[in-house]
Amino acid sequence: MSDRYAQLTKLPVAGTLTKRIGLPQPVTLERGSSTIDGRVLLGGSGRLAGAAARVLAQLGADSATALDDPVRSLAADAGLDAAVFNPEAPADRRFKALVFDASGIASSAQLVELQRFFHPTVRRVLPSGRVVVLGGLADSVAQRALEGFTRSLGKEIGRGATVQLVRVSPGAEDQLDSTVRFLLSPRSAYVSGQVVTITPSERHPAVDWQRPLAGRLALVTGAARGIGASIADVLERDGAEVVRLDVAGADIELDITAADAPETLARHFKDGLDLIVHNAGVTKDRTLAKMPEDRWQSPMEVNLIAPERITDALLPLLREDGRIVCVSSMSGIAGNAGQTNYATSKAGIIGLVETLAPKLERGITINAVAPGFIETQMTASMPIGVREAGRRMNSLRQGGLPVDVAETIAWFASPASAGVNGNVVRVCGQSLLGA
Ligand SMILES: NC(=O)c1ccc[n+]([C@@H]2O[C@H](COP(=O)([O-])OP(=O)(O)OC[C@H]3O[C@@H](n4cnc5c(N)ncnc54)[C@H](O)[C@@H]3O)[C@@H](O)[C@H]2O)c1
Repeated sequence: MSDRYAQLTKLPVAGTLTKRIGLPQPVTLERGSSTIDGRVLLGGSGRLAGAAARVLAQLGADSATALDDPVRSLAADAGLDAAVFNPEAPADRRFKALVFDASGIASSAQLVELQRFFHPTVRRVLPSGRVVVLGGLADSVAQRALEGFTRSLGKEIGRGATVQLVRVSPGAEDQLDSTVRFLLSPRSAYVSGQVVTITPSERHPAVDWQRPLAGRLALVTGAARGIGASIADVLERDGAEVVRLDVAGADIELDITAADAPETLARHFKDGLDLIVHNAGVTKDRTLAKMPEDRWQSPMEVNLIAPERITDALLPLLREDGRIVCVSSMSGIAGNAGQTNYATSKAGIIGLVETLAPKLERGITINAVAPGFIETQMTASMPIGVREAGRRMNSLRQGGLPVDVAETIAWFASPASAGVNGNVVRVCGQSLLGA
């Protein structure tokens, strides 16, 4: 469904008027490309700047580092051809992305380094730009504090730019690539204000960045329409062979809540598979006082119990470096009136990710996306007031598209994302709800 308000703000007279009276100004987000189109400024000092410089060098990014910054020599060591950036440079010297290594910040007093780097540079970020702060685990006061910074900057930066914090465990410096690439690219258009944690992994599979899923077999549930169809399309674009499952209109026509569904799938994939995407989902909204047991139980069975049973049945068949990706929801994080059943099931899915992630072996990972307001048939049928509130109450001032969820899943699914395990990433434009 088209966003008429966003179209209105692009018209000459109406656009000026909406700006004057302080109404939201959604910009057209850049999407699609897997690389960064524009200059990147790299700064900060810590154990991650060298790894970030290496990723930027491999991306062939046009880059700069701050004047008198220790990053300059790290960049040179990583083969990154970085120019020098002088904060006094004219205002038209702009950047597509700012990458700041904050892992060296060891005390609260040193947090001023954030102000020193971003104050002269944040206005230079181009539309649909990217800010990525790299930090350590939240095991010190100063490192914990980084979250307040990135979440606030995400809310004020505007013009379709996004801000993320990537926490890298000691020993996981060599697992940065897929995450930094995704977060810098237009593919992360509707992901903002997120904290991603990267953990060490022995796995370093060779990856063709154009077709990272080549040779991989994927199962996507609920793939006949909406977000699921987009997930299947994006995984195929990335080279995967995708088996689309749905109750009708799919390669496998199956009700995932059927008693024998796990065995049916285990038989189908008896020779193994590489990726399971638990996307099928239903809502049966009503306040708890008016909710009979069957209405409670329907989303629980589709959204939570079936993914648990199917995971149990297919986990032994998942090949090395296999991936499980679940689709949760912002409701599962923030809660929502009229959705006690749905939110319980979607919070349960986060529980599945968090309890299974530490137990997985053979390079297998499990992660979840938690979509916010995504433009689908479901959101098109909402009353206009609720729909408009959903679209505007986020830092990007617009709804996301199914492809935004799909791109995030493709990042989790990549063999290069071995260090991304147990994460729940919201695809919500940094919604104000449950932030
Ligand atoms: N649209 C949003 O804004 C939004 C927000 C947060 C989370 N989500 C989640 O994203 C996922 C996809 O949502 P969507 O908006 O594309 O919904 P949708 O209703 O358009 O698609 C869901 C698909 O799942 C299938 N399905 C439902 N029950 C099934 C069953 N028992 N067995 C097999 N297939 C079944 C449906 O037939 C349908 O094709 C869901 O898990 C949903 O909860 C969506």
